[in-house]
Amino acid sequence: MKPTTGSKITAETVRADFNDPQAVVHYTRAAHFLGLWKSERVLIERFFPDRNASLLEAGCGSGRVTIGLWDLGFRRLTAFDFAEELVAQAQALAAARDAKAIRFLHADATALPERQLIVDIPPTRFGGALFMFNGLMQIPGRENRRAALRNLQSLCRDGAPFLFTTHDRDHSPVERASWRLEKLRWDSGKQDPRLVEFGDRYFEDEAGRTFMHLPDRTEILVDLAATGWRHEHDVLRRELGRESPAVRDFSDECRFWVARRT
Ligand SMILES: C[S@@+](CC[C@H](N)C(=O)[O-])C[C@H]1O[C@@H](n2cnc3c(N)ncnc32)[C@H](O)[C@@H]1O
Repeated sequence: MKPTTGSKITAETVRADFNDPQAVVHYTRAAHFLGLWKSERVLIERFFPDRNASLLEAGCGSGRVTIGLWDLGFRRLTAFDFAEELVAQAQALAAARDAKAIRFLHADATALPERQLIVDIPPTRFGGALFMFNGLMQIPGRENRRAALRNLQSLCRDGAPFLFTTHDRDHSPVERASWRLEKLRWDSGKQDPRLVEFGDRYFEDEAGRTFMHLPDRTEILVDLAATGWRHEHDVLRRELGRESPAVRDFSDECRFWVARRT
């Protein structure tokens, strides 16, 4: 379902955009040929030292990070996404890479089916969670993003690390200037009427149509504290070194966040 002019972006809009063939090809190509970014590998190695931990990956898409985790030696992986076309691609890739032990599910982070996700008897909560490449920020509405944070928190055990990324409205002078302009638009009611909140963007590029909420740092710190996560670390990608041209082509600057389940 494509959004009609002026109608607010909903989860259904975002899901349809990710199920669109253009997006499916884009993310599947990245899963097959790009793999983990250097920065992702550095942080996974640092904050997820236990290869035996059972990990939960939200918004796995076509499996780019999931297969990367498998290749790093993680064997207890559960990955889910609410775009069924992407999950099907991730399953096909896992089968081709001999990684059939990865458990893939079709699920929405804002309404997680706990019983389906935790299958162990007695139930053991996940030892870590990830929501990579800004997936959390593609959930429209702050309350919905908080619901996803709460759901992941309740599925993890105490002390479990949670790694995710967001954009950062303040990461450069150009970005700051563009948000000052956007603020004037919102103050005079001239923003794109499809947007839900200040900080939202809805644009079209080689990945197809993309909804993205761009937070400032304070917003994320407040939301982590409100949903049972203790902030541990955050860093801009460029501070972790230079990515390859292919990775920079695929993705913009972002901020990595690491939190611990309280
Ligand atoms: C930018 S893509 C990243 C995909 C993959 N992790 C990667 O890095 O290539 C973000 C992913 O988050 C998923 N996503 C967004 N909102 C979601 C939700 N509420 N529940 C589950 N998945 C969601 C999208 O379907 C999409 O696959």
